[in-house]
Order: sequence, then structure tokens, then C-alpha cells
Amino acid sequence: MRKKIVAGNWKMNKSPVEAVEFARSIKDSVKGSEAEAVFCTPFVCLGPVMDELKGSGIAVGAQNMHFEDSGAFTGEISAPMLKAMGVPFVIVGHSERRQYFGETDESVNLKAKKALVHGLTPIICLGETLEQRKQGITTDLVRLQTRIAMSGIEKADAKKVVIAYEPIWAIGTGVTATDAQAEEACGDVRRVLAEIYDNDTAETIRIQYGGSVTVDNAKGLFAMPNIDGGLVGGASLKPDFGVIVNA
Ligand code: PGA
Repeated sequence: MRKKIVAGNWKMNKSPVEAVEFARSIKDSVKGSEAEAVFCTPFVCLGPVMDELKGSGIAVGAQNMHFEDSGAFTGEISAPMLKAMGVPFVIVGHSERRQYFGETDESVNLKAKKALVHGLTPIICLGETLEQRKQGITTDLVRLQTRIAMSGIEKADAKKVVIAYEPIWAIGTGVTATDAQAEEACGDVRRVLAEIYDNDTAETIRIQYGGSVTVDNAKGLFAMPNIDGGLVGGASLKPDFGVIVNA
């Protein structure tokens, strides 16, 4: 049985003080859930939020990292730095990073591999634009993105990865994929994982849905056979997040 995992992507929101206050205000409604919960905060909030969450069972995650260990990369944060802080999760390849910061399937693959080398769990994001869905290439695209993201990752490491299927047209728009649309794409991801590795590996890997998850739609989405939780943006900044984790 895969343990469900619900991660909040706080994006570029909250100062360290605000982040700690918010974490304090919702941790009781999140902890004790059957699902694993992760707060992906801005880099500067990771330490303070981690301190606040000590003993709660709630984990923190970063929202990005560089694929090199160190070097002349002004403004970047590396996997060893996150590891040294005790950060267990890192989002890689979020569509906003792909759209605004030039990330590609190849850089996402390099980041995922580097995260695994340092014992971090990458939450690898992928998904189609509205244009691509209209063109009928969602399945092909999601399969290709999964193949490139996982390229060079051995079976033992693959089992640790979390994949977030996030249709770009559903992110921050209030338009959610239907349960059936989300299930179909997450199923596509799992089927291609079975082709790359084997059934056992594919059945172990956790696949999240992301894109306008709310208290109203979380239960239906998370009940689908191939959806193992969610990556939640807007609603993770509200008290609602506790309800979503428990869904
Ligand atoms: P949203 O964001 O829940 O606000 O649509 C999801 C995400 O960007 O991961």
C-alpha cells in the first residue's frame, strides 16, 4: 500500500515570521493524518518552520535546487545545502520554474538525480498546457516527460521519487482536472514507469495530482486508484490545508 502524500507549495509567499505563525496555526489540524504532509516553504523559511514543526511528524520541502553540488551559480541553493539543514523533500521542475526560469526536462532530470544522490526526495512535476491537451497529445507528452525525468535513475532510487502530475491549465486558475482526467494522466505515468522499470516499482512510486486542489475536490481526486495525494498551491496557504491532508 502506498502511503498518500499531500504537499503544500507555498510558492513565494510569507516571511519567516509569518511562515512560523501559519505553521503553528495549522499543524494540529494536519498532524495525525494517515497521509504524509509536507510544507514546501520559501528557502528562508525552511529552518524556522522546521523548528516549529519538530515532533509534529510534518515534513518540510524546498521548492527548487540547483543540479550542481557547489560553484559559481549566484543565487542558487544546492542539494548538499538542503541536506545539511535536514530538509527531506524538494520540488523539481514545477511548471512555474519551467515557464519563467527556463527549466527543461533535461535540467529537471539532472536535479532529480542530484537530489537522490544526497538522499533528498524529489517531487518531480510534469503536465501539459491547455494547447497540448486540445491537440490531443497529453498522454504522449506526459509519457515523454516521465521518461526524461527518470532517465538514468536506478530502480532502487526510482521507488523513492514522488511524481506530481500538474496540468498547467489547472494551476492557480480555479479550474481543476476532473477526477477521471487526473486519474487517466496519473495512470499514464504509472504505466510508463512499469515499462521503464517493472510493475512492482511502478506500484511503489507515489503519484500526486496538482492544480486547483481544494477542500471540495480533494476527496474525490485522492480516492482515484492512481492518485496518491496532491501538490497544493493556493489552498495550502489557508486553514483549509488541514482538511485537504485529511481527505
Ligand atoms: P494551485 O497550485 O493549487 O494553486 O493550483 C498548484 C501548484 O502550483 O503546485
